[in-house]
Parts: sequence; structure tokens; C-alpha cells
Amino acid sequence: MARHTPSEDTASRKYHIIGEDVPDTVLFDGDALVSSLSETPRLIKSVYYYDDTGSELFERLCSENTYYLFITEKEILNKNAKAIAGLTGPVSLIELGSGNAEKTALLVKAYVETYGPTSYTAIDINHSILEKAAENTLSSTSDLTFLGIVGTYQTGLVQIKELSGRKLLVSFGSAIGNLYDDELYSLLVSARAALSPGDYFLVGIDLDKETKILEAAYNNQMAILGNLCVLQHLNWRFSGNFDLFQFRHVAFHNKSLQRVEAHLEAMQAQSINLQKLNFSFQLEKGEMIRTEIMRKVELHSFHDMFIEYGFHAVQHWTDSYKRYAVCLFQLSDKPTEFDSEAPLAS
Ligand SMILES: C[S@@+](CC[C@H](N)C(=O)[O-])C[C@H]1O[C@@H](n2cnc3c(N)ncnc32)[C@H](O)[C@@H]1O
Repeated sequence: MARHTPSEDTASRKYHIIGEDVPDTVLFDGDALVSSLSETPRLIKSVYYYDDTGSELFERLCSENTYYLFITEKEILNKNAKAIAGLTGPVSLIELGSGNAEKTALLVKAYVETYGPTSYTAIDINHSILEKAAENTLSSTSDLTFLGIVGTYQTGLVQIKELSGRKLLVSFGSAIGNLYDDELYSLLVSARAALSPGDYFLVGIDLDKETKILEAAYNNQMAILGNLCVLQHLNWRFSGNFDLFQFRHVAFHNKSLQRVEAHLEAMQAQSINLQKLNFSFQLEKGEMIRTEIMRKVELHSFHDMFIEYGFHAVQHWTDSYKRYAVCLFQLSDKPTEFDSEAPLAS
């Protein structure tokens, strides 16, 4: 696979980013987009948020006052990273959707301080953000081997299967909460296949709460810009003709489905054409395209879901207001009904 050359200031520290040769068509599946845009309601999967602009807007969203998720998860990790390291023993850390790994750096530091040299593999669909993840984690310690994998959760999980020793898979930022049921279940099957009994999965997830707090988190300036920029990403990637000024951001708490949904509402009837996909469709005035879901969970049902997929709950930590949880699961050695399911998707 292609190797990334370390930038000058980190040359002495060693890091590699692989997977740059994976074709964009694997990471951003145009056929899947055509079918999701043909559903009712029309959908755009959240992976399209994370081009370079979207990744930057997400970083800015994390410093919005109303976006409590980032600061809350950071508070939990600040207080409990050492305890997490104590519970698992020495591990190789692997993160799904690392982003800039600012919070993961706290965890990495705890492992290095407790056990010495540690390896950290960051998987993300966005190459530039992996560079930032390398900078953020390597700046807190030199006893770290950093590997970045440009890929989807699924392609990345196939690659980490080869790592030896005890593993700790990590997902922060409530990122798995952006997955629809089928995607989440298939992620759990793939995680189970990539891990060995005794390996761990540490998951940060947002808890269900008052509508007012939830809706404020997803209706600030950065959330609005991030949502609209999904259309800009599609225009660039697939030669589309979305006019960003003809859409309005709409995000609300769907209480019965325990999630916040972000949409883009067409402010007038319009014809959309994605040239490279040879796909056109008509939007009515007021029609909404759903661009993202953000699950808001109850801890007990979240635990039950992991148990169903062959994990057991080791411990969880919440913040002082019980807004957010970081849960440590361990893979059991008992087979589950999902073990016979298709092997890792590519
Ligand atoms: C919600 S952000 C969380 C970032 C970071 N973990 C945090 O807690 O701040 C999700 C991250 O996952 C990446 N991502 C989203 N969907 C992905 C997918 N299907 N495969 C790989 N990475 C993905 C995005 O590029 C982004 O960096």
C-alpha cells in the first residue's frame, strides 16, 4: 500500500498513513448514494460530511458552547483514562473515525504512562484529519507508534485483524450514533470478527435527554454550515448542481426514535443532477433530505445491544450531569447467532 511520508516536524517521531491508494469509489459509493437519494425520505449518509471542509467545520462545532458532547466526553476521559488503562492492561489501541484524536490523546497518554511504548491505529475516511490525529497524539508522547488508515470503518476493521496482542477498539464522539440500524449491526458483526475473545471495545455515546439541550447542540452556526456543506461535497465529488442557497437546515429531536435528525429542506421546487452518477431527481418545495441521525441512547438498552452481539459490559463512566457515557465492553468467547453471518464487508 502507498505510504505517507512523515511531515518535517514529525519526521523524528515516525508515523505512517496507509490506504491512500484505496479508490474513492470504495470509500464513497456512488451507487449507494443513488439508492439512498431515491428512498422516501431521501437520505444522504453522514460519511459525506467529512471532506476537508466538513472535518474542519466539525472541529469548530466541538468548540460551540451548545455542543456539549465534546467537552463532556473530554471531561470523562480526563478523569478516567488511567482507570480504563488499569482495567484492560496493555493493549494496541485502534480507533474508528478518529477525527483529530484530541480526546484520544488523553487515553494514549494514560496507556504510555502506565505500560510504556504503545501503538495506536487511527481509521478515518478523511486523510487530512489523520495527519492532525498523528500530530495530536504524538505531541503528548514520543513512546507511541502511530498508524493511520484511510478507509471506512469496514475496510479499516479488515486491516486491523492482522494486529497481534490484546486490542482495544475505540469509538468516540458518539460517532456510532450516526449509523442507521443496519449499518450499526453490521459494524458490530465486523468488530466482533476483527477482535479476539478478551479484546475490548470502548464506546463514547450520547444519552437521551431534554429536547431543548439536544436541539441547541445541532442548531448552532457550525452545525448549520456543516450540514449545507454536504451538498458542496456532493457537487464537487459527483459534478452536482445543488444550489446551497436554495436549502434550509432543519434539525429536531425525534423523541420516539430517540435520535436527533438533521435535514436540508428545499426552499423551492428544483431539479437536481449528479452528472458523474448519471442521476437526476426532482425536489418539491418543502421536501426534506435527511442528512444525518444522531442516536441518543438509554444506557441499559445500549448495553443490551452489545451483549446481543457477543460483548459484555465491563464498566461505564458518565459526566456529572449524566449527559454522556463512555462504556467499556469486552468480547466474550461464547459464539453468537451472528458468528455465521457474512465475513467482513470490504
Ligand atoms: C463525529 S466525528 C468524531 C471524531 C472524533 N472521534 C471525536 O470524537 O471528536 C466522526 C469521524 O469519523 C469519520 N467517519 C465518519 N464516517 C466514517 C466511516 N464510515 N468510515 C470511517 N470514518 C468515518 C469522520 O471523518 C470523522 O472524523
